[in-house]
Amino acid sequence: MQVCKVQLVALLLLLSCGMYSHGSKILVIAPFGTKSHWQFFGEIVKTLANRGHHVTSLTSLPMIRHDNVTEIDLDIDLDPIIPNTFENRGWGVSVNLLKRMPGMCAEALSRKQVQDIKIDEYDLIFIGLFVSDCFYGLLEDTQVPMITMSPNGLVSYAHELEGNIDFPSFVPMMGTTMLHPLTFTQRLLNTLANLFSHALTKYYYLPSVEKACKEAALCRPNMRSIEEIAAKSAFLFINNVQALETPVRPYVPAVIHAGGLNCRPAQPLPEDLASWIEGSGDAGAIYFSLGSFIKPKDMPEKFRQVFVKVFSTLPQRVIWKWDEASMPGLPPNVKLAKWLPQQDILGHPKVHLFITHGGLFSTLEAIYHAVPILGFPVFADQGSNMIKSTADGIAETIDWDDLSEDLLNNTIHKMLTDQKYQKTVNHRSQLMRDQPMSPRDVVVYWTEYAIRHKGAPHLQSPVKGMAWYQIYNVDVWLSLIVISLACLYLDIKILIALVRRCCYRTKTTGELKKKKE
Ligand SMILES: *[C@@H]1O[C@H](CO)[C@@H](O)[C@H](O)[C@H]1NC(C)=O
Ligand SMILES: *[C@@H]1O[C@H](CO)[C@@H](O)[C@H](O)[C@H]1NC(C)=O
Repeated sequence: MQVCKVQLVALLLLLSCGMYSHGSKILVIAPFGTKSHWQFFGEIVKTLANRGHHVTSLTSLPMIRHDNVTEIDLDIDLDPIIPNTFENRGWGVSVNLLKRMPGMCAEALSRKQVQDIKIDEYDLIFIGLFVSDCFYGLLEDTQVPMITMSPNGLVSYAHELEGNIDFPSFVPMMGTTMLHPLTFTQRLLNTLANLFSHALTKYYYLPSVEKACKEAALCRPNMRSIEEIAAKSAFLFINNVQALETPVRPYVPAVIHAGGLNCRPAQPLPEDLASWIEGSGDAGAIYFSLGSFIKPKDMPEKFRQVFVKVFSTLPQRVIWKWDEASMPGLPPNVKLAKWLPQQDILGHPKVHLFITHGGLFSTLEAIYHAVPILGFPVFADQGSNMIKSTADGIAETIDWDDLSEDLLNNTIHKMLTDQKYQKTVNHRSQLMRDQPMSPRDVVVYWTEYAIRHKGAPHLQSPVKGMAWYQIYNVDVWLSLIVISLACLYLDIKILIALVRRCCYRTKTTGELKKKKE
């Protein structure tokens, strides 16, 4: 009986060991995410907290109220360096960010709350792939497994972190406007853009982060390179849905698709919104929001007037996310609101069109809730998101510089009358929902896997430690070409020698014949 009890206890212990990953201590480092980045990071935090893990998160956007989450607010404001996104469309914002990042990161790292953190007390560390690179200085010596989170897809630098091979021959670089299949010129440009982005990261950005960190005496003078430390990361969680990626592309096992984590079934709307949308009759409603990062009041007045004019002629009702309670010339079929439950609106059967800036989160939510998209990209990856969505047949894109009453009116009419947009987005919505595991389960599974298997070294790509010319066999191809050229050269030499000999013989025999005559 006694033996039996001991065995039972041992068995229970074993069982609980096998499942010990409940209640792990997890540290999330993402001091710089914008609101939209934090939609992704925050969903990861909430998912793990609901699962019973204890999450401490370094953030500048505290917003999660949860028993199992402790937020450390570093209170870093990105606004001063990204002033007015309408006046700084295109890549200006990104260039400014790139210049300011190293200093900002060092400043965040110097905070007492950060320096007091005892890394080795945690079971797992998440780090956000956006400006947080100097924090790798904290992680140089630790054996605690790490997971990197990318709020976008796989940016070029992330390929190297996970040892994933990038194929500029058929995968257009993130942020570019090219589509598969690429012409020769596009492949050339794509390759050059790729090289440029890698070089910028490797020879300018990361060294300047290391320099700023060392100058502030926050990183050791003889610290390993950030790239080397970052390569310890067990997995990279990306905000992509594999079934929606065009073209499909190869991934190493360490890249985990967690896209659509922000998407959830629609819930009933607040009373006033519900009755407003339901009162739109057969015409239905249009939802207009430029996301959480772009300030609506930064929109130039001439653009605002175009929207107001065109909206006033539409039979549809329009819900417009706007940061003031009213505006000049507001038509009766338009309702303004500062904050709106986006997914509950998109999920309402009477909402037929989503006018958006084309951010990744909004795009994914539109696809999930099967609403066609009219995109006005402002900056960063929004342009390329919209080009992809337009090519997929679920969207139309209007460049701010082309915006006119006629164009806006005609595009809205076309999208609401031609059923192809709705049909295509319905199909893509089905693809997005038809996955073996929900994105939440994916996050829980691979996070606990990294804890159980101590960073999962068996799943790491061998490419991580290889030089680029070895990865692509450039040295092998070059030697094959050199050998072939050498053989060709020898062949030609021999051929010439043979021909000479032959000709000489016929010549001499010919001469002999002549002499005989
Ligand atoms: C917090 O974690 C505990 C286990 O550590 C779990 O039982 C509890 O349900 C979690 N709380 C919430 C609100 O999910
Ligand atoms: C908007 O476009 C539709 C169809 O293209 C057209 O019938 C309508 O007259 C236009 N409205 C205005 C105000 O131009």
